[in-house]
Parts: sequence; structure tokens; C-alpha cells
Amino acid sequence: MISIVKAMRKVILDCDPGHDDAFAIMLAVRHLEVLGITGIGGNCVIENVTRNALKILELIGRPGIPVYRGHSRPLVTELVTAPQFHGKSGLDGPELPEPAAKVRDGHGVDFIIDTLKSVDGVTLIATGPLTNIAAALNRAPEIAARITEISIMGGSASFGNWTPAAEFNIFVDPEAAYRVFNAGLHIKMCGLNLTRQCRITREEADRIRSIPTKTAAAAAELLGFYLRSSEKVQGVPGADLHDPCAAAWIIDPSLVKGIPMHVTVELKGEFTRGMTVCDYRHTRGSDPLRDICHEPSAAPLGEKPNAEVGVELDREGFFRLLFDTLAGYP
Ligand code: BDR
Ligand code: CA
Repeated sequence: MISIVKAMRKVILDCDPGHDDAFAIMLAVRHLEVLGITGIGGNCVIENVTRNALKILELIGRPGIPVYRGHSRPLVTELVTAPQFHGKSGLDGPELPEPAAKVRDGHGVDFIIDTLKSVDGVTLIATGPLTNIAAALNRAPEIAARITEISIMGGSASFGNWTPAAEFNIFVDPEAAYRVFNAGLHIKMCGLNLTRQCRITREEADRIRSIPTKTAAAAAELLGFYLRSSEKVQGVPGADLHDPCAAAWIIDPSLVKGIPMHVTVELKGEFTRGMTVCDYRHTRGSDPLRDICHEPSAAPLGEKPNAEVGVELDREGFFRLLFDTLAGYP
């Protein structure tokens, strides 16, 4: 009997763990071939986010995946962090095991460039500010053609979270995001309009707690902290699992419905800096955001789409994937 084993997609995960980044790592490592993880200053300072990535890899028994330090701050502005969501360490909550592995020598941006040049068929998953990816494109523009696809947690086709208009990852480094969205890449954008559909409830966190593995126990503790902080800051029950959506869309494309749109990034607005301006005028007639945009637009078609913007999540399918993933780890 011939058994056909489907090759796992090769990915680099660029992230700033971060509670929801931690879940993106868990999904990606289980279902994709993670060539390496590059840290980026975002939710917390670079030393912490890279250390947090190592801790998650230690927890799930995959300490051999290389972790590199990327940029510590945005291209042109100072770093803004998010301790109100992720605590002082960037990953407050459980006592995670001390990682035996160390951060690898070399810069994360070099790792991204060298890997893309030497390995075919690499996809990027970016769940932090886009500084490392933009820096790689600036240094070696030829890598654009080598990126199979990039799945980005960032932006919003509706409203923001860090400001009324801007989502955190894009707000932190809008210049980098502008570079990435205008680089001619195949982009999947998981904005807040999508990831808010992935708000985990306390009941779902309890279900994770009942999975008898040490990974699930730590995951439940991470969620305990993240639920408390999110509910305190946002005043609504539950916590948005933003980043794992970007990994899930690559693992199983049927989990997210995307619509091609032209997306660019506002760099100047007094109130809108960091906003992802999503042109969905061409979707008139079947407007996926009709709940917030009741009028079919009379505007002419906009620029050619440069991104597939996630608009609908198969929530049940997503949580099935998450629960199965956590149950599969030690
Ligand atoms: C994004 O901001 C960070 O705090 C999360 O990790 C996520 O990547 C959501 O706006
Ligand atoms: Ca993140």
C-alpha cells in the first residue's frame, strides 16, 4: 500500500510573544514546518519576546527550532509596548519552564533574508509589528519574489484597538507596514474585524484546562491572565485570540473567508496614523461588512487588490483545531 504524506508548508514565524503569539507558535509548530522564529520588539522589549518564544518551544518539547533576535524598535519611531494586555514580562501568568536553548547568533533579519534566498516555497507568518519584514525587504528587495505568501495579523477593515482607527501591530510601526503592504507580496490580512470573531470565552478556556497535558495546563494559565487583562482593559467578556488566526489561515485555508481588497497604511493622519485603509468598494452588492456599511457604494472601483482580507472565521473549526493541537502536545 502506498501512503502519501503531505509535505508541511515551510514557514518563518515573526512574532512578539505575547499571549496570543504563544498560541500562534503552538499551532504553527504542530502543523507547519517552522524553519525559525524571529522576535520583534512589540508587546514587550526584544529580550523578553525572544525569551518568551524559547519558553513556549521548551514547553511544547520543540527546543530545537531556532529563535533569532530581530529589531528592538520600529524603523523610525520609538517602541510602544502593551503591558496592560501581556504583563511586565510580555507573557505573564504561568511559571513556564526555563528554556535550555539559547537565542541563536545572528540577526533575525539576516535569518529571514538568507532563508528566503536558499529555501524554496517559504511562507511568512507575522504576528507583531512588521519591522523585521520591512527591513528585510529594504535590504534585499529581491526576496519579495521568493515569499510564497505572508499571513499578517495586523490592521483592521473596521475599527482599531490601540486608537479608534489603528490596530496595535500596525500602529507601532506604520512605516514598516506601509513597506510590506506595498511590496507586491501575496498577503493574507487577519485584521481585527476577523480576529474579534475569535474571542475566547471563559468556558472555552475551562475546556482547555480539562485537557490532561502540561501544555494545555500552561495554556489555560496563560489564558487566565490574558482574559483578566483583556476584560479589564476592554470592558467586555472574553479575550481576542488575534495571532493564532494568522497561523490557522495557513494551516487550513478553509477556516477563513477572505476578500481581495486594496490595503494601504495611513502614515500622516493626526487621528488615523497606523490605520489600514481597506478599499472594499468593489465588493458592493455582496458587502461583507454590510453591518457597518449599509449603503452600497457608488464609488468607482479602487486600485487593484494587493491583499486578501479575512472577513469571516469558521469559529467552530478554529477552536477544534486549537483543542486538538493542545491535546497533541506533551
Ligand atoms: C495584536 O497586538 C498584540 O498585543 C497582539 O499580540 C496582537 O498581535 C493585536 O492588536
Ligand atoms: Ca502579537
